[in-house]
Amino acid sequence: MKTIFEPFRIKMVEPVKMTTREERVQIIEKAGYNPFLIPAEKVLIDLLTDSGTSAMSTDQWAAMIKGDESYAGAKSWFNFEAAVKGVTGFKHVIPAHQGRAAERLLFSVLAAEGKVIPSNTHFDTTRGNIEFRHARALDFVAPGGEDPDVIADFKGNMDVDALEKCILENGAENIPVVMLTVTNNATGGQPVSMQNIRETRAVCDKYDLPLFLDVARFAENAWFIKTREPGYADKSLREIAREMFSYADGCNMSAKKDALVNIGGFIALNDDKLALDLKNLLILSEGYVTYGGLAGRDLDAMAQGLQEILDEDYMRYRIATVENLGDQLNKLGIPIFNPPGGHAIYINAKKFLPHIPAWEFPGQSLVSELYIEGGVRACEIGSIMFGYWAKDGSFVGAPNELVRLALPRRVYTRSHMDYLVEVVAEVYAKRDSIRGMKFRYEAPILRHFTSTFDRL
Ligand SMILES: Cc1ncc(COP(=O)(O)O)c(C=O)c1O
Repeated sequence: MKTIFEPFRIKMVEPVKMTTREERVQIIEKAGYNPFLIPAEKVLIDLLTDSGTSAMSTDQWAAMIKGDESYAGAKSWFNFEAAVKGVTGFKHVIPAHQGRAAERLLFSVLAAEGKVIPSNTHFDTTRGNIEFRHARALDFVAPGGEDPDVIADFKGNMDVDALEKCILENGAENIPVVMLTVTNNATGGQPVSMQNIRETRAVCDKYDLPLFLDVARFAENAWFIKTREPGYADKSLREIAREMFSYADGCNMSAKKDALVNIGGFIALNDDKLALDLKNLLILSEGYVTYGGLAGRDLDAMAQGLQEILDEDYMRYRIATVENLGDQLNKLGIPIFNPPGGHAIYINAKKFLPHIPAWEFPGQSLVSELYIEGGVRACEIGSIMFGYWAKDGSFVGAPNELVRLALPRRVYTRSHMDYLVEVVAEVYAKRDSIRGMKFRYEAPILRHFTSTFDRL
């Protein structure tokens, strides 16, 4: 059979309340044309993020009911610890309430002024936590990785030559850890190959540096290795994931993605001394070492989610959904970041709205039109997020003007996707009449969350 259908049945539903175009025009104007400021119940298809938005399974809900809420040494903790060790093979597990909490712990110990932390591409919270410690976060994605039109299997790879150059320039003693984000969220959710993980490991070995993986989407990455990299087709996702982890000294995870939960995260690692330091900090800010800012039931839901994410029927459907959406948009001539990555489609707003310059935020205009046209909530990843005004008053735009349509896991069906394609096509048909945006209020940091806009 050619049709890949959702490998689950729907047992509980959350109604979506319809809105009219006229209502949406008023709602988004009131929200200052910022999708983060729109009440969720006024959204028909919510593609703002794939983080913490998964639908949990019957087994996860059952595990939550069995959650042990003892302060120390709860049964839920041992379930969770065993699940993380089983998937990653690391010796120590440090629970945290989400990815950035794990990052804050890790970099509170490892990062300091004068230190440099290289990565294929740091996610923005990772960069934020490194820079908060006055260390430098450097990105070395392989050539072509940031180009929406380059077709390659592993556009998330690390540029290992650039990594080595960075080590030589800065001195290995100033590099506390090398990071690899799998998949690479900041460059379109693009995967990293096993060969590249091995090559990165080899560079780390040469200079005696530890390697940590940011594994928010490790299972999606494992699927791309299975389906695209020679020698892996017959291996299970669990085996592939285990090999990925075997090249690293540790990992940090936002479990809100590939552990299929609404909250949670962790660090897993082999180094005894670092684990002890992290546990001491954990107690100070997140909670005791066997719950780390989470309820026992959350730990159980993660333990179960970590098993389900490695189910190949699930992952085949997941990646096919993203690919199919990408195919439909490509066929209509709608410019997207190609090939589609693991968790989202990124529309190339620079090409979609070529008449709107970066300083009039084409991505934000497109986000607004998608909401007005069909109640679809998307997120700008362009000059609002990364652009700035230089000291001489000139505008420095982001490398790409993207609009991310992030797909929550197990939430939307194929007809939701068909509707989405129709909405994008409708907006594309009217693209010449779409105008740019200017700030109504410009937030001083992380502008995309709270700034407001007016149409030009
Ligand atoms: C690759 C990556 N790392 C870290 C994080 C931060 O995780 P959290 O949102 O759970 O704090 C994210 C979130 O999107 C991510 O995509």
